[in-house]
Amino acid sequence: MYQVVMDEDEAVLEAPEQQESAAGGQSASFGRVVSDEVDFSHGVALYVDEVTVAFDGFRALNALSLTIDAGELRCIIGPNGAGKTTMMDVITGKTPPDAGRVFFGQTFDLLRLREPDIARLGIGRKFQKPTVFEAMTVFENLELALAADKRARRSIAWRLDDAQRDRIAQTVELIRLREHADRLAGELSHGQKQWLEIGMLLAQEPVLLLLDEPVAGMTDEETERTAELLLTLEGKHSLVVVEHDMAFIERIARKVTVLHEGSVLAEGSLAEVQADERVIEVYLGR
Ligand SMILES: Nc1ncnc2c1ncn2[C@@H]1O[C@H](COP(=O)(O)OP(=O)(O)OP(=O)(O)O)[C@@H](O)[C@H]1O
Ligand SMILES: [Mg+2]
Repeated sequence: MYQVVMDEDEAVLEAPEQQESAAGGQSASFGRVVSDEVDFSHGVALYVDEVTVAFDGFRALNALSLTIDAGELRCIIGPNGAGKTTMMDVITGKTPPDAGRVFFGQTFDLLRLREPDIARLGIGRKFQKPTVFEAMTVFENLELALAADKRARRSIAWRLDDAQRDRIAQTVELIRLREHADRLAGELSHGQKQWLEIGMLLAQEPVLLLLDEPVAGMTDEETERTAELLLTLEGKHSLVVVEHDMAFIERIARKVTVLHEGSVLAEGSLAEVQADERVIEVYLGR
């Protein structure tokens, strides 16, 4: 059943071996422990430098620069068309930029890599629409996500060992679906499907998790639970959360970046960006 996700000859970027941090510092707290291929020793997880993406001459990203720290929870807000999704497309290798540089850790040039290699390196992405396997149970979905993790596969030979069962058990607890583990994913509510997909990403222990409008379509209670979930992930992973729901942003905000016309318009605490005249004019004041 797992054949679809496997390509054994992929050796461009062998996922790093387990190795309890030699570097110490913040990188030690990461879910996925990294090898010397990716260097998080300076506390930087992602470095986007002067990235431009043009579609038929229109600059969806215009010399965009930002830095995400290791373990940081960053919120990104901004009007429709500001370039938020395009930024995620560049980071994950879906859209090659016309100019600029993107580094993972200190030195790892993401623009040299293909989409699956970037994912394998420890960058997970949650699209707006849930993409779980509806005809499989919650547990099976998580199992599949784990099997897609090359490091896990190597040791399990397509079967879960105790450590992997534990990992799924912890994940299912974290995403509050323990009672639903044996239900078909197709029977879950929209919010529960979103949590399952987040869980599937977490099962692969990403260093950096990108979430594009994770609470769109959720009930208020689901939104609150999602806020709690993301706050528990802070410090263990770097999280980049794009959202229009300002009540949700208020709940989780640490440092907030406001994008506008493909560039950073403002950055700071939520209170700081909310007080910024330019931000009020282009976004919050509407
Ligand atoms: N493949 C594409 N071809 C042409 N234009 C595109 C493409 N992808 C995005 N764009 C344009 O680039 C701009 C930025 O789009 P993007 O989806 O990144 O915005 P966003 O900030 O995510 O907006 P929203 O809040 O509505 O999701 C928009 O004007 C969009 O129409
Ligand atoms: Mg978008």
